[in-house]
Amino acid sequence: MTAISNPGTPDAPGPVSLALHGRTALVTGAASGIGRACARRLAAAGATVRAVDRDAAGLTALADGLPAGTPGTVEPLPLDLTDLDAAERVAAGSDVLVNNAGIQLVRPIEDFPPEVFHEVLTVMLEAPFRLLRGALPHMYRQGWGRIVNVSSVHGLRASPFKSAYVAAKHGLEGLSKTAALEGAAHGVTSNCVNPGYVRTPLVERQIADQAAAHGIPEERVLTEVLLVDSALKRLIEPEEVAEAVAFLCTPQASYMTGASLALDGGWTAH
Ligand SMILES: NC(=O)c1ccc[n+]([C@@H]2O[C@H](COP(=O)([O-])OP(=O)(O)OC[C@H]3O[C@@H](n4cnc5c(N)ncnc54)[C@H](O)[C@@H]3O)[C@@H](O)[C@H]2O)c1
Repeated sequence: MTAISNPGTPDAPGPVSLALHGRTALVTGAASGIGRACARRLAAAGATVRAVDRDAAGLTALADGLPAGTPGTVEPLPLDLTDLDAAERVAAGSDVLVNNAGIQLVRPIEDFPPEVFHEVLTVMLEAPFRLLRGALPHMYRQGWGRIVNVSSVHGLRASPFKSAYVAAKHGLEGLSKTAALEGAAHGVTSNCVNPGYVRTPLVERQIADQAAAHGIPEERVLTEVLLVDSALKRLIEPEEVAEAVAFLCTPQASYMTGASLALDGGWTAH
């Protein structure tokens, strides 16, 4: 796997103002990429972060690698989210839930293994439903909660060869909106963030598959496949997505619910 260089990345702007002292935030897929950035960001806001991932070593690295002076904490909770009962149990008592864990396979429908389709839907749609079931009773009791679903531009648009991923993300959009309608009376908001391509291992891993599926060399995948519909010709950084997640947890975002916040470099402007 080659790390993708990303020319044109702007200097990091200052963080949005967010205080989560005394709050518990559960982040799934926290060992890598966007989830890792979200866990670090919410801990920086003072939260006790319950970091869920099947990658136990990655969770330990996350917890051990928190910057000195981080006001919050990270509690590693190794778990495979295909264990749906365990997923529902682990979410109990969370004030903030970030549904982020995801997997990808790039393959035409006729070659797409049905068992992988099932796994993608389980991890990326059914587990978020079960995590919501686990988390909402506590949020409703206290009259406050924040659900952030890490969807994708693929929750709003399709691409060829990603049937399971696109189906799961479109389903997550519906789940998020339904949670928004049900949670409104209880002080709970539910929103999606919809990144275009983010510079994470999930994207780096699909370069070879995309090259094979489209019949082009790997070095042409970034410009001719991944960024072809993006007006901004760079990948977004995981920290930029985490900042949007943080914003959705601020008091300033309390009227935002049922929304899908595109971070897609203009892709869906087409
Ligand atoms: N990278 C992108 O370009 C991009 C764009 C839009 C949306 N997203 C979404 O962002 C989310 C995170 O993606 P990423 O790019 O950070 O990926 P990543 O591969 O870097 O991280 C995903 C994490 O999820 C974990 N995970 C996967 N299956 C799991 C399971 N069954 N149980 C527990 N943990 C599991 C992995 O171990 C990994 O740590 C995904 O939902 C993805 O669809 C990514």
